[in-house]
Amino acid sequence: MLFAAHSGLRFLVLAGGLFVVLYAAVGFFGKREYSSAMARLAAVFTGLIHLQLLTGFIVLFTRPFYTAIIGHLFTMLLAAAAAQFTTSVVRRRPQEAKSYGPHLVGAILAMVFMAAGILAIGRGVLESTM
Ligand code: HEM
Repeated sequence: MLFAAHSGLRFLVLAGGLFVVLYAAVGFFGKREYSSAMARLAAVFTGLIHLQLLTGFIVLFTRPFYTAIIGHLFTMLLAAAAAQFTTSVVRRRPQEAKSYGPHLVGAILAMVFMAAGILAIGRGVLESTM
């Protein structure tokens, strides 16, 4: 049951990340003024990753353990750190100094770490074993 949630939530997290990357890329390359929608979108993405970490830690105790899960765990922590760090850095800046660049870099890094973390346990990024 919780494994199903963990497996399914991954699609929402990846979709959220894709939205952040696209929104930040349009703002960054289009040299647009920083919009508060960017901050909200990044906060939702970061929140979804944290929720996914939480379900992951619970799933850990419900499934047979094998060493590749350690790689899964650490790459996912890096993904969460990349998303959280860039979101927090931009939030602390004064309005005129806020920009899309950190969101773009942070979300791309988070997506790469998440893809690596899923591949680490022998699944395709969009593959479900449910
Ligand atoms: C952003 C964070 C994470 C994402 C996107 C993610 C994604 C996934 C995916 C896609 C699967 C395979 C689902 C399937 O086969 O249908 C999985 C399995 C699993 N994940 Fe995560 N995960 C994340 C974080 C974590 C964390 C922090 C832990 C804690 C150790 C964890 C523990 C596990 C475990 C134990 C399995 C089952 C492995 C198995 O039985 O073969 N996950 N995760």
